[in-house]
Amino acid sequence: MVKCIGVLTSGGDAPGMNAAIRAVARTCLNKGIEVYGVRLGYKGLHEGKFMKFDRHSTRNIINNGGTILKSARFPEFKDPEIRKEAIEQMKKVGMEALVVIGGDGSYNGALKLTEMGVNCIGLPGTIDNDIPDTDFTIGFDTALNTIVECVDRLRDTSTSHQRCSVIEVMGHFCGDLSAYAGIACGSELTIINEQNISEDEIIENLKVEKAKGKRHAMVIISEKVLDVFALAKRIENEVGFETRAEVLGHMQRGGSPTAFDRVLASRLGDYAVELLLKDISGVAVGIKNGQLTYTPIENALSLPRESLLPLIELGARLK
Ligand code: ADP
Ligand code: F6P
Repeated sequence: MVKCIGVLTSGGDAPGMNAAIRAVARTCLNKGIEVYGVRLGYKGLHEGKFMKFDRHSTRNIINNGGTILKSARFPEFKDPEIRKEAIEQMKKVGMEALVVIGGDGSYNGALKLTEMGVNCIGLPGTIDNDIPDTDFTIGFDTALNTIVECVDRLRDTSTSHQRCSVIEVMGHFCGDLSAYAGIACGSELTIINEQNISEDEIIENLKVEKAKGKRHAMVIISEKVLDVFALAKRIENEVGFETRAEVLGHMQRGGSPTAFDRVLASRLGDYAVELLLKDISGVAVGIKNGQLTYTPIENALSLPRESLLPLIELGARLK
């Protein structure tokens, strides 16, 4: 049975990561297992930046955004030599398993470590919700609620001035934040990568809305689809709405996690340790239809995700 476990956070931080760290640490300590926090993701793993946790190490963090362990992007980890050195650092303190809290990039690192014989569990921590084989990732719900609050505020002023607001939200090629926010905010138009919609079609769509008598419009767009500032200019010139573009940016990643994210993170962190204690590793944990699940990390990276188009169509029917 594993006697010493490490936990790290990697890639883009997400609200709820602290709750997951706390759950991993406390479940380990409750079971009499040694547990180390690894600072700065894979960079800290390579540099041996380990802190031994006791019960006090994770107090008063369940309500905090960000990650007490800090996060980092460390492309050098793709180099097998660097990974070998990281494994040596783990051996020095007797760390026999690693819980990796992060997104798909971090899962790739965990998969590579697994292939080199390290017992790893991937735990989905990213606001993007872009991990297949889990319905939700930690941080998605908090980011979504932040977006909804921002868009509601923009709607107030947009309505008063009879303007169009074009709002770019995060997601890194994944449209979940946009698709859910579009419905929750009643946007006139929601645009994600999967739709493959042209700028001309967007303009035509808004012309139809204006012709129907709409005096203002909210347009939610996933990042990396198009330039929202250029689109705003075209809307002003070709549709006739006075238009403002907003990029919500990193404020979407901060803030106190919602209750949903805290509970999800606590369940997944505890479950990750339970699996390691049953000698199960090389898997990613998740939640499907309310049930905790696990699947090989390579599946979590490669399985197709459900289409978001039904959500986009629902938003369009209800606008
Ligand atoms: P996220 O986990 O949020 O998707 P990134 O894509 O930036 O974030 O990945 C986080 C880190 O995971 C990278 O900085 C790198 O250290 C590690 N990583 C990503 N891809 C690989 C890979 N193919 N092999 C090894 N490590 C990787
Ligand atoms: O993966 C989370 C995320 O916030 C994406 O939505 C976004 O594309 C990216 O990270 C931003 O990364 P950075 O913090 O490096 O600018």
